[in-house]
Amino acid sequence: MNTFEKIAETTEFLKQFNTSKAKIGVVLGSGLGDFVKEIETHHAIAYSDIPHFPVSTVQGHSGKLIFGSVAGTPIIAMAGRFHFYEGYAAEDVVFPIRVLKFLGVETLFLSNAAGGVNTGFKVGDLMIIKDHISFAIKNPLIGKNDERFGPRFPDMSEPYSKQLIKRAKEIARQKNIDVKEGVYFGATGPTFETHAEYKLVHILGGDAVGMSTVQEVIVARHMGMHVFAMSVITDIGIRDDDNVITHEEVLQAAKEAEPKFSTIFRELIASL
Ligand code: HPA
Repeated sequence: MNTFEKIAETTEFLKQFNTSKAKIGVVLGSGLGDFVKEIETHHAIAYSDIPHFPVSTVQGHSGKLIFGSVAGTPIIAMAGRFHFYEGYAAEDVVFPIRVLKFLGVETLFLSNAAGGVNTGFKVGDLMIIKDHISFAIKNPLIGKNDERFGPRFPDMSEPYSKQLIKRAKEIARQKNIDVKEGVYFGATGPTFETHAEYKLVHILGGDAVGMSTVQEVIVARHMGMHVFAMSVITDIGIRDDDNVITHEEVLQAAKEAEPKFSTIFRELIASL
């Protein structure tokens, strides 16, 4: 069975839960699972119960697909995502994103925890992703192109919707939430970066570095979805002092910033 056929089967299975025909998809990153409190859940399906879905293994990711609504707007949320560093093929990492599109999702909201390399950033900051650098990750579109998903050579001039960014900044201003804006540098992980690597990311034009999101954005754009993405800065990579970074600290920082993050996601979804 090829990818297209698998996606068709998975979509067929999930359609029964998508009664409100959601046009918005949400992916909750490390430590940001509390956003589920904003969701009025109609159905929650464990990834392990969904045909052809990979199964999440990382601590802090609960692994279920939620059909529900946020501020009255129907959404489908992924509580837990799949990372390349877990050993999945790039094609598996993006499988659920393609399923969301086939279920009718037109706009995708992505979140993640990331390490800051912009000297103006501090732990707990929110960064709206305005662009990304993808060449340090494996592009999920490598291989034979299936035109039913999108074109062989997709345009990447606006990976993140300028209109949604503008709106998110207005919401942040109204709610008195400080937001940064920057370039997300995609890395494979699972190692955090060395001093030299954080410095390199900074020199190359990155403002933050993380281990997710970019592959998802590439397939979302390939399929013509609009994307909004935001990082929580959970550690600062670009420091001269000892810079030990732990997964626990990343989760803790994300949890603390979560209320600000939730406000922006909720209000932005409500505004659509
Ligand atoms: N590097 C890569 N990924 C991350 C980091 C980091 O410093 N923090 C959270 N995710």
